[in-house]
Amino acid sequence: MTPPTTTAGGARPEVSYRAKDETGGLERVYVWDAVVRLTHWIIMLAILIQAVTGIYIGRPFFIPAGAEDQQFVMGTMKVVHSYTAIVFTLAVLVRVGWMFVGSYYARWHQFVPASARRRRDVWSMLKFYTFLSREPPLNVGHNPLAGLTYLLVFALYFTMIVTGLALYSVGAGVSYMKMWDFLLPILGGAQTARWIHHIAMWLLLGFFAHHIWSAILVSRSEGHGLIDSMFSGYKFLPRSWRKRDE
Ligand code: HEM
Ligand code: HEM
Repeated sequence: MTPPTTTAGGARPEVSYRAKDETGGLERVYVWDAVVRLTHWIIMLAILIQAVTGIYIGRPFFIPAGAEDQQFVMGTMKVVHSYTAIVFTLAVLVRVGWMFVGSYYARWHQFVPASARRRRDVWSMLKFYTFLSREPPLNVGHNPLAGLTYLLVFALYFTMIVTGLALYSVGAGVSYMKMWDFLLPILGGAQTARWIHHIAMWLLLGFFAHHIWSAILVSRSEGHGLIDSMFSGYKFLPRSWRKRDE
């Protein structure tokens, strides 16, 4: 499917300056496989649920009348937090495993700039974000700067999981989850683990705000359907993308 090159009035639409430069039109390319998309949205939903329930656990911001009701709200928050933690942890593990067996654009090289070209593109992308250049480099998978940032985001995911397991062990009693209590001295005790869990949450929420902003910015300036691609798997790329990706 070729997107329109003119508007009804005949003027060129503001698709993208890159798209306007291309003479061959745009090509529909399948970039994100189902596992990448599903884990992305599951992890996002899990983080939002974990943040709301976690903030309540840390500082109960509403307390219904009656001591029993109050416990029930806290209990519900903790149960939802725990079950969502399982979903979150499994989705993160699946996504990390997929970096080694998944389709081409799901793989680890999309995050670690191992090739000279991807290292150059980190710089080109930085110039674009700092207004030193008008055009981002053509990216088929993740742009290399975003890929590097996602590495940090995955590190934050693991921080949440490790500190979460340590916190779980505190109240685990005789449950087998007590086995994670070896993490507590490594993390500097339960209070430090709780503090790290909290800080990492705010870093993730900060990333969330920036990520939406940059996804909208890059989506508009590239004109390749970046945001839609996380839903459908497809981007619309200039026909020269194959040369670029060899
Ligand atoms: C991005 C995901 C997550 C967010 C945003 C989040 C957020 C929070 C926050 C804000 C707290 C309250 C800390 C405090 O006491 O001040 C908390 C508590 C806790 N979180 Fe998470 N969390 C996440 C993931 C996890 C995971 C993956 C686990 C388990 C593996 C986990 C287990 C726990 C436990 C056990 C507590 C303590 C509950 C208690 O005091 O009984 N969390 N979380
Ligand atoms: C807590 C919220 C979110 C987190 C932590 C998050 C994290 C991530 C991560 C780790 C990736 C890399 C995906 C992979 O290869 O597995 C990614 C990609 C992407 N996300 Fe999100 N995301 C969040 C919310 C959103 C939202 C709300 C949108 C839509 C506006 C969005 C749009 C995208 C897009 C378009 C990409 C591909 C961008 C690229 O190629 O660099 N994300 N996100």
